[in-house]
Amino acid sequence: MLGPYSIVALVGSLRKESFTLKIANAMAKLAPASLSVAVTTLHDLSFFNQDIEANPPADWLRLREKLQHSNGVLILTPEYNRSIPGVLKNAIDIASRPYGKSSFLGKPIGIVSNSPGPLGGVSAAKHLQTIMPGISGPIMGQPEIYLNGVGDAFDDQGELTKDSLKVVLQQYLEAFAAFVEKQNR
Ligand code: FNR
Repeated sequence: MLGPYSIVALVGSLRKESFTLKIANAMAKLAPASLSVAVTTLHDLSFFNQDIEANPPADWLRLREKLQHSNGVLILTPEYNRSIPGVLKNAIDIASRPYGKSSFLGKPIGIVSNSPGPLGGVSAAKHLQTIMPGISGPIMGQPEIYLNGVGDAFDDQGELTKDSLKVVLQQYLEAFAAFVEKQNR
């Protein structure tokens, strides 16, 4: 085993009891020893505004530096109106700039969508697969992961209790660890 590799897990929901956040926390715990997963929420990120690109605020720079220092990125998203939440798109826009110098460049990307509903946020994941290729490293194609029915997966403390979800996350993380290792070799 090589590594440990630093992975930034971007959380696409600001909600206190967010399932997306709980999944990110579960993934950080379930990750194999070769991955060190930093769960990263977007509460303190200001709006992207091209007018201030030449003099970017500290919160933009913090996000960009965190991504630049990582060995890979997991993007965890709920689905809002068949797409990704604005807060996540804002973070991606900030990290994608300046033009040609995206902080995602060269970083292996894993896309993890979820929903308490039956479709697992697949449309949000598909939108990320459209957004990311021009500004990132390779996106892991297999296995895909669209987590449905996540509403009953956690206890009152936010701990993952649904075994079927645990198994899927573990399998995904093993594959992502191999993918990250290959890209960072
Ligand atoms: C939703 N939700 C939702 N769910 C889904 O499966 N497909 C969708 O298109 C939408 N659209 C949508 C729009 C908006 C504005 C909200 C607030 C919610 C429901 C959503 O999956 C649910 O609220 C999740 O709990 C949100 O994720 P977090 O905050 O738990 O991570």
